[in-house]
Amino acid sequence: MTIAEIQNSFDAEIANCESLSQLQELKVKYLGKSGALTALLKSIKDLAPEERPTFGAKVNELRKRMEDTFALKADELATKEMTRRLREERVDISLTSCPDRGALHPVTLIENRICNLMIAMGFEVLSGPEIETDYYNFQALNIPYDHPARDMQDTFYITDRYLLRTQTSAMQARVMERKKPPLKIICPGKVFRSDNDASHSPVFHQIEGLVVDKNITLCDLKGTLEYIAANLFGPQTKVRFRPSFFPFTEPSVEVDLTCSNCGGKGCSLCKETGWIEVLGAGMVNPYVLENCGIDSNKYSGYAFGIGVERVAMIKYGIPDIRLFYENDQRFLKQFGK
Ligand code: DAH
Repeated sequence: MTIAEIQNSFDAEIANCESLSQLQELKVKYLGKSGALTALLKSIKDLAPEERPTFGAKVNELRKRMEDTFALKADELATKEMTRRLREERVDISLTSCPDRGALHPVTLIENRICNLMIAMGFEVLSGPEIETDYYNFQALNIPYDHPARDMQDTFYITDRYLLRTQTSAMQARVMERKKPPLKIICPGKVFRSDNDASHSPVFHQIEGLVVDKNITLCDLKGTLEYIAANLFGPQTKVRFRPSFFPFTEPSVEVDLTCSNCGGKGCSLCKETGWIEVLGAGMVNPYVLENCGIDSNKYSGYAFGIGVERVAMIKYGIPDIRLFYENDQRFLKQFGK
């Protein structure tokens, strides 16, 4: 090919070039090692010596022109490519409807609320294992193997020794063995029982409270529970203690609150009594303190166990505990806004 032919075909091809990869191919075709221009330069040796300088100068001029053209074209194509991508990959930030936002589960909301209240009163939050030993779940709490109180808390045994804990009370001895009074702790977490109906679930949540110090009395327990009740259900809420029995507390109490639905007048929720039972509590049984190496002549303590689902059911008027675990968006969406 002559210089003019190369120039013409180059001009035509570069005008039609539409992408950077095509441009690269052209560059190889004309300026590469076995490119057209290189071939021309090699042919210089076949010319008469006096023709060589002019020919050489012309070829070099063409090479310079080609290189400039390639650079300009590369710029042009890069700009075009950027414009195309900006157009095609544009994110429509004007979209008005957002995908559904997540929200906290009602059980988490109540658990957080109670924990935050307790933290504000100086309680430390601790968590323990869900797979627990028979010792911590029962024996250390004054519930030996043959104790009838085990019937109420039948659970899932992994071996004779290990079980899914039935109560966060299992943390009491764990904590008291490691830390010595003054103690002021809560232990939120999951517990398990072989129960399943509208008010019992095989898995549910409790928050255990434990305070051990000198001169702790039932009054300290009542004051603490009154504060929690007022915060959860309003300042008019009254707290009532009824005698009860738990092997790990003495005395033991069932704690009732005035019904938040009728304010204590009597309605179907409180079975016309005006009161709703919310938790079990009591003064830590001296046996339990001694089991953990705490001198029961010097120290006393109170403990309580709150059922988180139970509180949520009362607070939000939820009739069936199973609603918490079905993950029905229509149910869950009503909370945590
Ligand atoms: N652990 C008991 C239960 O699950 C509740 C309970 C009662 C916890 C009395 C306590 C307590 O700490 O003092 O039924």
